Amino acid sequence: MKASVGTVRTIRGLMAGIEFTDDPPRLQEILLTDDAAQAPFQVHSFTDETTALCINMTDYRGLMKGHRVVRTGQRIEVPVGEPAIGHIFDALGRPLDVERLEGEYETRDIYQVAGETSFAGRAPEMLETGIKVLDFFTPFVKGRKIGIIGGAGVGKTVLTMELIHNIVQAQSGLAMFTGIGERIREGHELIETLRERKLLGDTVMYFAQMNENPALRSMVALSSATVAEYFRDEDKRDVLFFVDNIYRYAQARNELSTILDQTPAEGGYQPTLFSDTKWLQDRLTSNENGSITSVQTIYVPADDLSDPAVQMIAQELDSVIVLSRKVAEQGIRPAVDILRTQSSLITPEVVGERHHHLVGQVQQIMQKYESLKSIIAIIGENELSPVDRADYSKARKLIKFFSQQVNVVEDLTGVKGEYFRRDETLKGVEEIIV
Ligand SMILES: Nc1ncnc2c1ncn2[C@@H]1O[C@H](COP(=O)(O)OP(=O)(O)OP(=O)(O)O)[C@@H](O)[C@H]1O
Ligand SMILES: [Mg+2]
Repeated sequence: MKASVGTVRTIRGLMAGIEFTDDPPRLQEILLTDDAAQAPFQVHSFTDETTALCINMTDYRGLMKGHRVVRTGQRIEVPVGEPAIGHIFDALGRPLDVERLEGEYETRDIYQVAGETSFAGRAPEMLETGIKVLDFFTPFVKGRKIGIIGGAGVGKTVLTMELIHNIVQAQSGLAMFTGIGERIREGHELIETLRERKLLGDTVMYFAQMNENPALRSMVALSSATVAEYFRDEDKRDVLFFVDNIYRYAQARNELSTILDQTPAEGGYQPTLFSDTKWLQDRLTSNENGSITSVQTIYVPADDLSDPAVQMIAQELDSVIVLSRKVAEQGIRPAVDILRTQSSLITPEVVGERHHHLVGQVQQIMQKYESLKSIIAIIGENELSPVDRADYSKARKLIKFFSQQVNVVEDLTGVKGEYFRRDETLKGVEEIIV
């Protein structure tokens, strides 16, 4: 087939209008500039029958009007299967740690969603994290989704790293990590931590960090989801899927939407915020082949939990652990806001009668604590009734109990990380509240 060639007609920032007089490309197809750079552009939409609006995927600045661009006939495809394991990739599925992957491997179109996903008839399987507050309030259940929500610097990344540290060692499944729009340094740190503990061999990592353009930042989530789907469906594996930070996916989509001059909707977000979010989250699910268990951090802009993107993402998750600046300021780590933290998995069927009952009791005490705090501010603790005073003291003990040292900042704090068995956690709570 003779390669079909387009001509650049308009350029605006990351967008280029490219005219194809015959044989136009299809949506999402990759085009390459017809020069030494072979810079990739992706077809986003059509402005008329012959003109494709295309996104500059890299920082290529050499494009000019009249330049030629060649069709590839392909959309983005990422390497899947055994040869991909142990490697680090960019959004386009290019390995970052080696020149090329060893062995034969297949590739998969990242826009081709794997078949139906349904998750019927499996008994819930709890995975222990060793982190008390998490095991207690937002249990880690195979095939389900946990969100770690919080504003800047409240400890989302540290908590995620600790989870990876504790869980990847204990599980035999495959772990995937996707870095979206966060610090480059953090990616390096994670790789180092895993390397030191010889865990890198069982992981696949994808990165498009804050220095990369919005096309890549939004795409990387799809690329890594495609790999996860493959391992789930073809290899029948259980995949642990960590993302830091899923909010950056919504944000990158929003940036693209702005570049495309789309009229924003609620909260200044793109009109497709709902479908963008849903489409991705629906891929990260479990089915009869295998499971994808995900932990996703969610950045909260300006500490405002009612942000439309934050809300929309949270709705798609089974549990959300809310980190709060107020709690962090008191030196409590992990800085969990117990009253805002929620899980639909706290049911007798999933966690058992005992655990379910305890959560209810703890929440009651914590709620009471909140109202007592304002009373105490006025009249002082000594004026409380004996019952109130007892509950107040229990709440304080619980807060202390749920804080713990983490392994991944050992170097920073000089204090050793702690791991608690789930049963120890439940026992500890019982001892405080009875
Ligand atoms: N569990 C913890 N124990 C001790 N220190 C912590 C803990 N969690 C966070 N910190 C401290 O807070 C800093 C910020 O944490 P972290 O990077 O996890 O925040 P974040 O919520 O991911 O922030 P951002 O939104 O900027 O990515 C860490 O560098 C560390 O110094
Ligand atoms: Mg972070």
